Amino acid sequence: MYDFDKIIRREQTACVKYDLREAYFGQGDVFPMWVADMDFETPVFIRDAIQERATHPIYGYSFRPETYFTSIMQWVDKRHNWQLKKNWILFSPGVVPALNMATLAFTDPGDGILVQPPVYFPFFHAVKNHKRNLIENQLLYNEGRYTIDFTDFEQKVRKAKMFFLSNPHNPVGRLWTAEELKRMGDICVKYDVIIISDEIHCDLALPGFRHIPMASLSDEIAQNTVTCIAPSKTFNVAGLATSSLIIANKQLRHKMRRIIEDLHIGNGNLFGAAASIAAYENGEQWLDELMQYIETNFRLLDGFLRNELPVLELVHAEATYLAWIDFRKTGLSDVKIKEKLLHEAKLGLSPGPVFGKGGEGFQRMNLATQKANVEEALDRLKLAFG
Ligand SMILES: Cc1ncc(COP(=O)(O)O)c(C=O)c1O
Repeated sequence: MYDFDKIIRREQTACVKYDLREAYFGQGDVFPMWVADMDFETPVFIRDAIQERATHPIYGYSFRPETYFTSIMQWVDKRHNWQLKKNWILFSPGVVPALNMATLAFTDPGDGILVQPPVYFPFFHAVKNHKRNLIENQLLYNEGRYTIDFTDFEQKVRKAKMFFLSNPHNPVGRLWTAEELKRMGDICVKYDVIIISDEIHCDLALPGFRHIPMASLSDEIAQNTVTCIAPSKTFNVAGLATSSLIIANKQLRHKMRRIIEDLHIGNGNLFGAAASIAAYENGEQWLDELMQYIETNFRLLDGFLRNELPVLELVHAEATYLAWIDFRKTGLSDVKIKEKLLHEAKLGLSPGPVFGKGGEGFQRMNLATQKANVEEALDRLKLAFG
């Protein structure tokens, strides 16, 4: 049994979530439940692997050994029932860099890229920073559940060259079903629109749910898809800047490899490689326990809101450790909600509007923290909104 209740002080470790509060919120004393990393210690088998590598006194240029690839292949097969070939796997120093590289590799200025807001905001930047055209297929929200407007999706896909999919979806917490994925995948194949499937949260399905990789659904879809995965969210190693791209299509792979080589970022970080191997070789038990703990935090939040603060509603999550909370029944504007959160609750959440259309009136709360911290946050919420 791993101990997820253990509090680890993170202040003054140059960590974004704690040490950039003043810079982001204009207030250094907010209780931080924003940036998507975890307050749990990185599992011991990863720390051991890093320490072991660190004992060798030279940290020169390195490449990823065979076990880097085999550990990913075995993990993806076991956890997600998808059989990969080694040569499909490319290294990327992060998933957001990969979204930007895909934009450069597969589109030209002025080309359309489709996204599904409310969605992880760097998706917008990866379109706009390179002067591509942002096309939006806004998610529908009815009776507590987010779904896809397929009529709109098909119309918008016709104008796009590429589609950034978030699966599981950050921030709304949906794990798209096989039917939903197949339908989106088939439409993209029909109109020759490349899918960049950001599956960075794929390992974080809550108990009872199962992640389905988009590219595992058919050969046609696999040939049309770049899948982004990483140990970063799953095992709390985002600071090691190590992720992988899975690309079955030779031409797409060559274009992507070309960008990685041109930018000269393929060497990566040798501690990231050690961590990735250790994570995928040893991480199953830890991850299963983690997701049980996260589920308990979701239950705690949900129960509290229902019983003590019904003006706020938790959107039912299927995956990720990010709670998407509906504040609209308060009748307050986003500015006012933010003000109350910062000055009355002293809580640092991620404001819904940053996730684009449909984010208005919502806030995202990071539950990858000790239960005691969630309880503290709930008391603070009640103080401000009760
Ligand atoms: C959907 C999604 N993609 C990518 C990232 C970040 O990826 P990276 O740190 O590898 O650039 C996040 C982090 O929150 C995310 O939620």
